Amino acid sequence: MYIGGHQVFTDKAVFSESYVPSELRVRAKEADMLFKIYYNKLFSTAGLSDITIIYGSIGRVGIGKTTIAKYVARMIREKASREGIKVNTAYVNLFTGPSLYSILSMIVRDAGFNITVRGSPVIDILKAIVDNLYINNSYLLVILDEFQNMLTSPRVNPEDLYALLRIHEEVPSKDGVARIGFILVASDIRALSYMRDIIPQVESQISFKLHMPAYRSHELYEILRQRAELGLRPGSWSDDILMMISETYGEDRGGDGSARRAIMALRMAGEMAEARGIGIIEPNLVRKALSEQEASSIPVREIESLGLHELLILKAVADATVEGIEILTAGELRKRYELLCESYNVKPRGYTQFYNYIRLLSSTGLIESRLSGKGMRGRTTLVRLTPPIPADRLKEVVEKAITLSMSGEGKGETQ
Ligand SMILES: Nc1ncnc2c1ncn2[C@@H]1O[C@H](COP(=O)(O)OP(=O)(O)O)[C@@H](O)[C@H]1O
Ligand SMILES: [Mg+2]
Repeated sequence: MYIGGHQVFTDKAVFSESYVPSELRVRAKEADMLFKIYYNKLFSTAGLSDITIIYGSIGRVGIGKTTIAKYVARMIREKASREGIKVNTAYVNLFTGPSLYSILSMIVRDAGFNITVRGSPVIDILKAIVDNLYINNSYLLVILDEFQNMLTSPRVNPEDLYALLRIHEEVPSKDGVARIGFILVASDIRALSYMRDIIPQVESQISFKLHMPAYRSHELYEILRQRAELGLRPGSWSDDILMMISETYGEDRGGDGSARRAIMALRMAGEMAEARGIGIIEPNLVRKALSEQEASSIPVREIESLGLHELLILKAVADATVEGIEILTAGELRKRYELLCESYNVKPRGYTQFYNYIRLLSSTGLIESRLSGKGMRGRTTLVRLTPPIPADRLKEVVEKAITLSMSGEGKGETQ
């Protein structure tokens, strides 16, 4: 609770993860380019069939990929609506590599179509969507976020991806007008080479590729300033504190360029100021928020309490991430783990223990693991580093912990 002048937040919603500002002050030009690609098609006879892709730099998160996609989709829907054109939008996150059937269910639900999905074959759902758009003379814009997972998921085959992304050829509309566009969002450029391998006909149809680099400090400053203006009480914040944060995370200053972390730091400092009843975000609170966030993204203590073999597995995952391999199968991880054991001169543990360690590491939140869908080679465990954890820094901490553990000073078991 806060009283009068001690209040810091005027609108906390602008600090939530999923908040998309009504105006982009950074990357506005890029957003406008994307916007125009789709928007202009709404007034052409050919209709809407574009596929574009937004991708980031390897290993970077929180750099606005999802935000710009959602922002553009919303802008298209709203501006078209003012011209009397209905554009339905749907957002689907593909992190779990869902089947085509689940993707279509999500699209139908998100776009608000009155289509029965349950029990219908995929092709009928596709037809129903196309018919629905034809009858209502409306359009559909679909965002497929974390698209790279579709390319590596054993649950999805290239035919499914074709059926979805080339829906106009699979299921032509009665009047021949295309009405469905896609914005693909992928973590990095490797998605494009995967596509070239797996679905070259789709890759060659991508009409626009937007690379989103990590943010520089002046960009983070603009992003923070907007949030401060929208969500903080005037007088509770200063330019100085925004600079402190943007210079910590700016890619040009050696930070990871993440707007997400910058916004979280401002929010955390604001919460501290409110909790202390001072109503002003002082620089020392910002410093505290920055260091707490630093500490919370790499749980050093927790890592130091891990056993040697857990540390080696964690290092294997971190190494792979640094090399640009985001998702590992249990088999690939096992190989890397065995090689590491060899180089540290310890005997690898058996498979049962190995899987136990993976489970334990997942329960700490350091890694994420899940079972793949049924693929050619049956089900397998997939492992990745939890996204917000910076792999290069984690590597350093883990390597230090391994040295400690091997010298017998670690709290964990040694061998
Ligand atoms: N250009 C921008 N303007 C305003 N806010 C931004 C911008 N880019 C990113 N953000 C904010 O930063 C956070 C992370 O962005 P997000 O799009 O989720 O990153 P990514 O998808 O690349 O991981 C979100 O809260 C988002 O609102
Ligand atoms: Mg995202």
